[in-house]
Amino acid sequence: MAFQVTIANTGATIACAADQRILHAAVGAGVDYPYGCATGNCAACISELRVGAVSMLPYSDNALSEAQRAEGKILACRAQPRSDVEVVWLGRGRK
Ligand code: FES
Repeated sequence: MAFQVTIANTGATIACAADQRILHAAVGAGVDYPYGCATGNCAACISELRVGAVSMLPYSDNALSEAQRAEGKILACRAQPRSDVEVVWLGRGRK
């Protein structure tokens, strides 16, 4: 099953399978999504989940605190869509 992921920074909408991570789907689709470790440790891919729901694979509290998660922040390298979603990356600032 695949969901639609809209990336607000660029306006791109891409397909992302339920078992795929948003970062990987975005980069694979040619989106210049900011990232570093791709393993949930550096926070370069930190994003705001504006619409929809995701599941998060394990990640470091140093990259995303519980408080940030509660505010709707996610790590795109750890996030798998559970519905159509809209995200905006924060790592290079908002556009
Ligand atoms: S790329 Fe490092 S936490 Fe996502």
